Amino acid sequence: MTGQARIRVILLGFLLGAVTGCGGSSEGGGQSAAAPTVYVIKFPHVVAAATPKGQMAQRFKELAEERFPGRVRIEVYPSAQLMEDTESIEALAFGEVQMIATSVALFDRLTPKLQLFDLPFLFPDLAAVERFQKSPEGNALLTALTEHGILGLQYWHNGMKQFSGPRPIIEPADARGLKFRVMESDITQAQIEAIGGNPQKMAFGEVYQALQTGTVDAQENTWSNIYSSKFYEVQPYMTESNHGYIGYYVAVNAEFWQSLPDDLRAGLTATLDEVTQWGNARSEAINLESKQHIIESGRTQLTVLTPEQLAVWQQAMSPVWDEYRDRIGADLVDAALAAAK
Ligand code: LMR
Repeated sequence: MTGQARIRVILLGFLLGAVTGCGGSSEGGGQSAAAPTVYVIKFPHVVAAATPKGQMAQRFKELAEERFPGRVRIEVYPSAQLMEDTESIEALAFGEVQMIATSVALFDRLTPKLQLFDLPFLFPDLAAVERFQKSPEGNALLTALTEHGILGLQYWHNGMKQFSGPRPIIEPADARGLKFRVMESDITQAQIEAIGGNPQKMAFGEVYQALQTGTVDAQENTWSNIYSSKFYEVQPYMTESNHGYIGYYVAVNAEFWQSLPDDLRAGLTATLDEVTQWGNARSEAINLESKQHIIESGRTQLTVLTPEQLAVWQQAMSPVWDEYRDRIGADLVDAALAAAK
């Protein structure tokens, strides 16, 4: 086949895939009765391979391909190589990618409910988050997006958020006037507004450069993201505040998932459950390790807030609760509060 003919065949295949809604996600099935279908799962994410999410995505790929040789290929694209987060949600709904693990905050464009996880100081630690995620209410959220063609399968942890900036951020007044990069989500924006900062919504892949060039002054993220994306190299002050949670809604394109043979879907589901248990149990340690590396680098100065100082932050961010409680659903917030205790 000439190069041009080959490109035409590939393009045709892609278009047909798009028309069936499966996004070119299977190979080989139609060629001969004997050729097994290889289901291709494109799985983009935005963080480094060494982070909790990066490790879980890679392990899922390795175990799934080992258990279903020649039947599934999982293409993991870390570090926003394929696309940024907001684009990935759209791409998943349209079947252009088959799986994502995107921060829960970013699904606010589809449902207000998932903003629950970004209510400041709702969860004291990952154990509390997990109790809620495993509760009936937490579990029910996995099917909150089915009308958009998106099915949640699991929650993956990253960790708790910390602040960094060009000056020590010890009390809310220290944030006043600083430009903070936030995820592209309204509730994270509201939280920075509540403390008098100037929030700038921005894709993760742009943050390092924005901090380096001064397009933004400050940011909030987990230790593992701050370390693996080197934010600490361009932020002279860090504050351990644990004021919020970053975790992921691990979701598939529902139509693609239903199109899988039953045994493959069941096997991938079981593999994902296993990987989730493995990775969620390690995420805290990965974050602590990253924190340690940051401290040892000597590039930044860390302040750990006392319970009294944290109470001041909690009070300062309470308007976010007033604004979002009913939008999210008061029952859901109460269920999370009960699980968080
Ligand atoms: C962020 O944008 O800061 C996070 O959502 C990145 C991630 O995937 O952890």
